[in-house]
Amino acid sequence: MGKVILIASGKGGVGKTVFASNAGAKLAQQGYKVVLIDMNMGLRNLDICLGLENKIVYDVADVLSGVCRIKQALIKDRRFPELYLMSAPQNKQKTEITPLHMKVLCNKLKRNFDYIIIDALTGIDEGLTLAAAGADSAVIVTVPEYAAVRDADALDQLLLEMGITKRMYVINKVMANLMGTGLIPSISEIAESMRPDMAGIIQYDENIHLAANNGLPIVYKEGTYIEKNFCKILERIIEAS
Ligand SMILES: Nc1ncnc2c1ncn2[C@@H]1O[C@H](COP(=O)(O)OP(=O)(O)OP(=O)(O)O)[C@@H](O)[C@H]1O
Ligand SMILES: [Mg+2]
Repeated sequence: MGKVILIASGKGGVGKTVFASNAGAKLAQQGYKVVLIDMNMGLRNLDICLGLENKIVYDVADVLSGVCRIKQALIKDRRFPELYLMSAPQNKQKTEITPLHMKVLCNKLKRNFDYIIIDALTGIDEGLTLAAAGADSAVIVTVPEYAAVRDADALDQLLLEMGITKRMYVINKVMANLMGTGLIPSISEIAESMRPDMAGIIQYDENIHLAANNGLPIVYKEGTYIEKNFCKILERIIEAS
């Protein structure tokens, strides 16, 4: 039986999509069968991060509303043995899709995949309730900014209320030269204000930004400091999920 991991954040632009694409790519590289679901209805990004934007015919909304079968909406990333994308629709849905539909979809996917990774939309509104409906665990992505840390805590509280007890967080876009200046929250300050355990920190690195913009999960290249760090983070997440 597979596991559903939600990647979420309170504040926007912190790196959920980059994190989700790399988590999916790394797990697939390790031999797991993985599906990445983009739940940013109307504002999809994951397809670009994976370089699959020209391959989308059907999307997750088509599946949830019964327009197509699950298989028809699964796009294979040929660079990896078993990595699939289920994209979000390009336009916001007008049809009613409920959290129950999402839960059913996740349960079906769990029979055929080891990991189902959900790239959630930013925030804590009903879009999150839909994205989180089938989640077994969650990874909260945040950055060293006071606003982002407070939003991460608010999101964490909500996920707890939703019954997602397995939660971890990742601090992304860490700039070593700014840490310890007292001008932004330090890692230990963030750790003190968050309930769940930290899975790790990811540095701000322009190579991550460039790779994401060019449809390449950066972990694809093995042996870099980024890839090694990502593997450790993923190990902690998998252990706890
Ligand atoms: N560690 C990093 N170093 C440098 N750039 C990064 C890093 N992580 C993410 N980025 C860049 O930050 C931007 C936002 O990343 P991303 O789209 O993954 O965030 P998001 O949380 O999914 O945003 P949204 O709220 O729009 O869904 C992108 O331009 C991405 O390339
Ligand atoms: Mg995103």
